[in-house]
Amino acid sequence: MNPKVVELLNDQINKELYSAYLYLDIANYYDEMDLDGYSNYYMIQAQEERDHALLFMKYMQSNGLKVTLEAIAKPDKVFDSVLAPLEVAAEHERYVTALINAIYHEAHEAKDYRTMKFLDWFVDEQMEEEDNADSMVNRYKLFGQDPRGLYLLDQEYAARVYTAPSLVL
Ligand code: FEO
Repeated sequence: MNPKVVELLNDQINKELYSAYLYLDIANYYDEMDLDGYSNYYMIQAQEERDHALLFMKYMQSNGLKVTLEAIAKPDKVFDSVLAPLEVAAEHERYVTALINAIYHEAHEAKDYRTMKFLDWFVDEQMEEEDNADSMVNRYKLFGQDPRGLYLLDQEYAARVYTAPSLVL
């Protein structure tokens, strides 16, 4: 496999684990505020990001590629409002989309059709992740400043349950 593609695939394991770490940090922030529904939402989001990391790892293993696990960066965002983590998450998902697109680009250049096919699931996933993250920002702006509205949003996010990724390797 093309060395640049391999490097980016390996790096993506780290990036997805960082995403999980960032979302755990957000979940913890909301837990401290007693917004248990928002906290639940991001605990599940962290689980999904770990799943993404494991999918990249499994893909590399299945292709006989050496996986190297690197240090995970410290989540260093400072949150000062209910809205702040939602905006950080939305911006982060756009960054992850750019990363996926960059791997796709290299795979395309290398005529690595297998990796492109693998990445297709992540291309779709990122559309959903960005949509959900933007929706959380917008819904907070619409309803969240009113205590009753915030309470109802928190109740709704409390109902989110974990589902395993539809991609199975
Ligand atoms: Fe694994 Fe939220 O992107």
